Amino acid sequence: MQSPDPSPLSPSEPAIAQNVAALGFISPEVPPEVWQRHLAGAPLRLGVLASGSGSNFEAIAQAIAQRQLNAQIQVMIYNNPQAKAAARAERLGIAAELLNHRQFPSREALDQAIIDQLRRYEVEWVIMAGWMRVVTDVLINAFPDRILNLHPSLLPSFPGARAVEQALAAGVKVTGCTVHYVRLQVDSGPIIMQAAVPVLPDDTPDTLHQRIQVQEHRIFPRAIALASSG
Ligand code: GAR
Repeated sequence: MQSPDPSPLSPSEPAIAQNVAALGFISPEVPPEVWQRHLAGAPLRLGVLASGSGSNFEAIAQAIAQRQLNAQIQVMIYNNPQAKAAARAERLGIAAELLNHRQFPSREALDQAIIDQLRRYEVEWVIMAGWMRVVTDVLINAFPDRILNLHPSLLPSFPGARAVEQALAAGVKVTGCTVHYVRLQVDSGPIIMQAAVPVLPDDTPDTLHQRIQVQEHRIFPRAIALASSG
């Protein structure tokens, strides 16, 4: 018998809830006592890094607005002037800062500029939500064990670029998404939370990615709460 979802992050839309019941398997769930502790504490001060659409950035903002995550997004930093995340930030009333990687002489220089902004906005947790730049020890050492990344596969399978395409090419029948601590080696840090989704016979990279993203939006706020609770 399946037990009811105990966390306050149950999806509200029936269609999503149905999907989740059919497809989503999250591990680990956040224990109720951790939720209570998290919700009773001081709000986490988040800095989100995004390179593209920003749907995970918005999912985190929504979780906060619905009081399912006790946090505030101090700033959203993006590296690509075309990133749709910027329009989302404007609509959500969240400060956004463009740091165009092309204008920096090295990865380290970009990371130092990111740190300067994160400090200016008094950020304590760095949330890489679709951040497509490799980070250096400059950033990692500035926020030890306080940088989380989201990756669209069940790590350690399919690290690096084009994880969804890699999963399709490998012919796996189950894939998913992972939230993990950031370490120097790409997509290698300790895993905080994962969700699994099936790969269907007629999947394209787009259809599979969409299915994975439903789960990403579910697990990222939960993983932030879990990680911050120690
Ligand atoms: C997400 O699916 C995330 O897993 C992936 O980028 C997408 C961003 O979507 N991240 C990576 O591939 C990192 N290696 P979003 O901009 O809509 O949140």
